[in-house]
Amino acid sequence: MTDRAALYADLVARIREADAAYYNEDAPVLSDAEYDALRMELRAMEDLYPDLVAPDSPTRTVGTRPSGRFGKVAHRVQMLSLDNAFTDDDVTDWAARARRFLGLADDARMAFTAEPKIDGLSAAARYENGVFVQGATRGDGMVGEDVTRNLRTLSDVPKRLAGSGWPDVLEVRGEVYIEHDAFLAMNEEQESKGEKLYMNPRNAAAGSLRQIDPGVTASRQLRFFAYAWGDVSRPIADTQFGAIRKLAEWGFQTNDRTERFEGAAGLVSHYRSIESDRAELGYDIDGVVYKVDRLDWQDRLGFAGRAPRWAIAHKFPAEKAVTQLLDIEINVGRTGALAPLAHLAPINIGGVLVAKATLHNEDEIERLGVKPGDTVRVQRAGDVIPQILEVVEDGGGDPFTYPTRCPSCGSDAVRAVDDKGKRDVVRRCTNSLACPAQAKEYLVYFVSRPAFDIDGLGERQIEQFFERGEVTEPSHIFTLHDRNDDLELESREGFGEKSTQALFAAIEARRRVGLARFLRSLGVRHVGQGNANLLARHYGSWTALQTSATAETEEMQTIDGIGEAAAGSLHDFLNTAESRAALDRLLAQVTVEDAPTVENGSPVAGKTVVFTGKLEKFTRDEAKARAQSLGAKVAGSVSGKTDYLVAGPGAGSKLKKAEDLEVEVLSEDEWLALIDGGG
Ligand code: IVH
Repeated sequence: MTDRAALYADLVARIREADAAYYNEDAPVLSDAEYDALRMELRAMEDLYPDLVAPDSPTRTVGTRPSGRFGKVAHRVQMLSLDNAFTDDDVTDWAARARRFLGLADDARMAFTAEPKIDGLSAAARYENGVFVQGATRGDGMVGEDVTRNLRTLSDVPKRLAGSGWPDVLEVRGEVYIEHDAFLAMNEEQESKGEKLYMNPRNAAAGSLRQIDPGVTASRQLRFFAYAWGDVSRPIADTQFGAIRKLAEWGFQTNDRTERFEGAAGLVSHYRSIESDRAELGYDIDGVVYKVDRLDWQDRLGFAGRAPRWAIAHKFPAEKAVTQLLDIEINVGRTGALAPLAHLAPINIGGVLVAKATLHNEDEIERLGVKPGDTVRVQRAGDVIPQILEVVEDGGGDPFTYPTRCPSCGSDAVRAVDDKGKRDVVRRCTNSLACPAQAKEYLVYFVSRPAFDIDGLGERQIEQFFERGEVTEPSHIFTLHDRNDDLELESREGFGEKSTQALFAAIEARRRVGLARFLRSLGVRHVGQGNANLLARHYGSWTALQTSATAETEEMQTIDGIGEAAAGSLHDFLNTAESRAALDRLLAQVTVEDAPTVENGSPVAGKTVVFTGKLEKFTRDEAKARAQSLGAKVAGSVSGKTDYLVAGPGAGSKLKKAEDLEVEVLSEDEWLALIDGGG
C-alpha cells in the first residue's frame, strides 16, 4: 500500500471508530471539533485523489445505516427535548434555578427570549459551505431518519443560504408544521381519494414528511420555523436573539412572536398574550418556550438528562372532555407492575381522538370512585397518555375490584411495604420472568430503541416468537439464524425472504454492544439510561462492573447519582440464579465493548473527583456538570479511588480523610488551572 493509501485507510478507520462509539455509546471518543477536522481531512484527500475514494467511504455513508424506509443519521449534537412548566411559579423557579446554577448576584441582569412552541415535529437541516446537504428527523435524539429528499422540497428550507457570514458547517434546527388551512385542504383531498384522514396537523406534518415519495411531501405545503442549531463549525452569535436574527438573514423563517426580555418578569405576560392570540395564529402551538439569551450562559448551564437547563416550555393548560368509561383493563408491564387502562367511548379532545386513558394505579381508582359505565372527565396534555380526572355521573354499575392475582400468570400480585411501613402504590406480580406477560414485555423492551435497538423486531414479531416458545429470553434472539432450518422464517406471513435476511443482518449487527447500552438493556429496576451511563463511565468494562456489583454495593454507591435502590437491585439481579443464568447465556452470544473514555485531551478524563467546602467561582452544580462533561467521575465521598479532592473554604471531614488517604487536594483555582490549562 502506498503511504497515501495507508493514510487514507487510517483516516477512514478512525472516523468509523468514532462513528461507532458515537452511535452505540453515549460518550463520543472525539470532540465534535476533532471529528469534523478528521472528516474535513478525509474530504480534502478525496478531492485531491479521487482514485482513493472507497465506495463505502464515510463521506458517502455518513452515520447512515440503511434500514427500513429511511436511512439513519447520527446527530453530531444530540437533539434534545424540553422540560415543561405548567404554572407561573414553575417559570419563576426555573429562572431562579438558572441564576443559582450560574451563581449570579441578586442584582445581576439576565435576559431571556420567549417564543411560541410550535406543535409539529423537529427536524435538522445541514448546510456545508452554504449548500443544503442533509435533512434529518429527531428520532430518539441520538439517531434520526434521513429525510434529505423530503426536507428539501419545503420552500421554507433554503437550498442555498442567503446573505453572508454563515459558518462552513451549519445545522439549523426547527419545527416542521402545517398550517390549519393546508391541513383542512389536505384532509379534503384525502377524503375525496378515499384515503385515511389525519387526526391533527401535527400527525399530518409527520406523515407528510416521512413519505417515501418526496413528490408527495412537496404537494403537502409543509412549513418550517427555525429556532435552534446543532453542529456548527463556529459560533453564530453571542445571544439566542442574535442567533435567531442571523438565521432569518440567512433565509429561514423565524417566528415573529419571538421576543427578548430583560429579566424573567416579562415572560409570563408574553405567554398570556400569545395564549390569547392562539386561535388566530393559523397553526397549532402548545405553549411558549423560554430560553436564556446569553449563549455562553447556555453553554455553562448545559443539560440535565434529556433537557437543557437553559430552556423550558411553558405549556398551555391541558384540554378536557367528557365521555363514558367502557371498561378497565389491567395490563402487566415488564417489571410486573399491574397497570389499569381505561377504555373510553372514543372522543375528540383538542383535535385528537382519545379512546384510552390511564388510571395510574389501584389507589387512584379508589380515590376517583370510578367504575365501568360511569361518565368521566378526561384530560389530554401534549403527548402523554390521557388521564381520567373525575366521575361526572355515576353509571350505576358495580364497584371495580382490583385483582390481587396477576391477570397473566395467576401468581400473587402484591404491594410491597418498605422499611418505614409505607405501602407501594404499585401492585406487582411476584413471579418475575416466569410470568409470561413480564417475560414478553421484557423482550419487547430488549429489542426496542433505547435497548438493543434491533431493526425489524418489534412487539408483533416478539409476540409471535414468544407465543410459539421460540424466543423466551434475549439469548434466543441471537440463535434464530442458526435455528432457521427448522424455523423457516422466510415462509411465515409478514417475513419473506428479504425481510428475514434483513432481520438476521440487524441481529448480527448487535452482537457487539457498548457497555452503557448493554446495562440498560438488562431491564434491572432503577438502572435506566441515566444510571447505566453513570455506571458505564465509572467502571469502563463489564468485567470491572460485574465483579464489583456482584460482590458488594458500597463502591457503586460512592458514584455520584447512584443510590441504594439502583446498587441493590443490580446486586440482587447478579446474585439471583435465574437472572444470572439467563445473563450468562446472553453473554455467550454478545460481546460487551468497554465504554470509551472521553478522549478530549482533558487531564481529568477518567479521574474521580470529589468537591467539598464552599466554591467561589462556580456553584457546586456547575462545577460538577463541567467535570462530568470533561469525562471525570464525580463522587460524593472520598475513598482510595479518589484522584482529586477539590476543597474550598470550610472543608471538613472529607479534607481530613483525603489527607489520611494521601489523595491529592486542590484549591478551586488549582482545579480550574488543571481543567482549563489542559495540564
Ligand atoms: S428549542 C434543546 N424552541 O418542542 C432543545 N423547541 O418539547 C431545543 N419545539 O423537541 C428545542 N417549538 O421539537 C425549541 N420554539 C421552539 C420550539 C421547540 C417547538 C419542540 C421541539 C422540541 C420539543 C420539546
